Amino acid sequence: MRIKMKITMLPGDGVGPEVCREAVRVLKTLNHYYDCDFQFDEKPIGGAAIREHDNPLPDATLQACLKSDAVFLGAVGAPEFDHLSSQLRPEAGLLRLRTALGGFANLRPAISYPAIADCSPLRESRVKGADVLTVRELLGGMYFSEPRGFGPDKESAFNTMRYSIPEIERVARVAFDLARTRRKKVTSVDKANVLETSQLWRNTVNAVAQKYPDVKLDHMYVDACAMHLITTPTRFDVLLTENLFGDILSDESAAITGSLGTLGSATIGGKVNLYEPVHGSAPDIAGKGIANPLGAIASAAMLLRHSADMPQEADDLEEAINDVLEAGHRTADLIEPIKTALAAKRHLASTSEMGKQVERAFAARLDGRFAYHAV
Ligand SMILES: NC(=O)c1ccc[n+]([C@@H]2O[C@H](COP(=O)([O-])OP(=O)(O)OC[C@H]3O[C@@H](n4cnc5c(N)ncnc54)[C@H](O)[C@@H]3O)[C@@H](O)[C@H]2O)c1
Repeated sequence: MRIKMKITMLPGDGVGPEVCREAVRVLKTLNHYYDCDFQFDEKPIGGAAIREHDNPLPDATLQACLKSDAVFLGAVGAPEFDHLSSQLRPEAGLLRLRTALGGFANLRPAISYPAIADCSPLRESRVKGADVLTVRELLGGMYFSEPRGFGPDKESAFNTMRYSIPEIERVARVAFDLARTRRKKVTSVDKANVLETSQLWRNTVNAVAQKYPDVKLDHMYVDACAMHLITTPTRFDVLLTENLFGDILSDESAAITGSLGTLGSATIGGKVNLYEPVHGSAPDIAGKGIANPLGAIASAAMLLRHSADMPQEADDLEEAINDVLEAGHRTADLIEPIKTALAAKRHLASTSEMGKQVERAFAARLDGRFAYHAV
């Protein structure tokens, strides 16, 4: 298999560079097994770019991203820039990048790994086996619709929630296509008992569903969904939502896994796909070598699936993460939430040790498959 990919790496701030390093380490494992040429081109963004170029998204960074096959981001944000206005802060660079790349479907898996189910604030019996993929519409709805603003006296304010049929159709197709690769169920979230945009959403999703007779579709009001995600997360497979509801529900679903540090994400459908761990720059632990790299590594698995057309290797990498957790390796964030007696049985790993463990487990899985094919 010949794979050639140009990946623009944007390590960013805080723990971003630390976790990106581990994602690159793991992706490079593939070079030993395939005719792979992953070229990693590093560019500044966020606070790092403000320090060097006085701009959170320098033009050279944006142009490199637009010319690449995939973009991989660590995190942005640093306390020294908190006093700046919102357009000048590190986060503004990321928002501009997301808009320029044009991805309209944000994918956020929340998986309860059995080995760390005890880290979840939810009861273990409820989260065990949960594997929810939120597909959130990212470029429409209330965050982008006009008109918006403050009334003339600044004593009132207003926003608009607008959706068109094509905007709903394209993200619904992503959800149904992904459901076909999983447990073949889509739960579409709306508030159709109150909002016209939700009525359009529901009708359009029903129409798209006609083309996917093998996928089971149900609809759920957003308030009910917020409750069911906590009480019975195992009932969900793919959760399809508009922008605002998805923002809230995907963060809520993070409670299933137990640590922000394990969550990866992908934004697809635009000019170039963007992969990033869900967490921020975590300035409180930056530079200590203790950040959990699994969210970045899970994002690298998504890159293999959605940009490199390597679905089997993406599965292998996700299994490798599970293998490492099953073997008892834990970064500090996965040890602190559990009881002391249990914690003593885990192996505390630094960021790079955790990355190396996944690299080894991934190689073992690839070895196993190559040996099987050789027989
Ligand atoms: N996509 C992004 O780049 C992004 C997302 C969220 C926040 N931010 C920015 O990050 C900065 C810090 O924000 P915050 O503190 O609200 O959120 P955060 O995600 O950075 O941290 C929240 C908590 O989770 C912990 N944490 C985060 N990532 C971890 C990891 N990989 N391993 C172990 N623990 C981890 C942190 O130590 C902290 O206690 C702010 O400037 C914010 O704007 C950036």
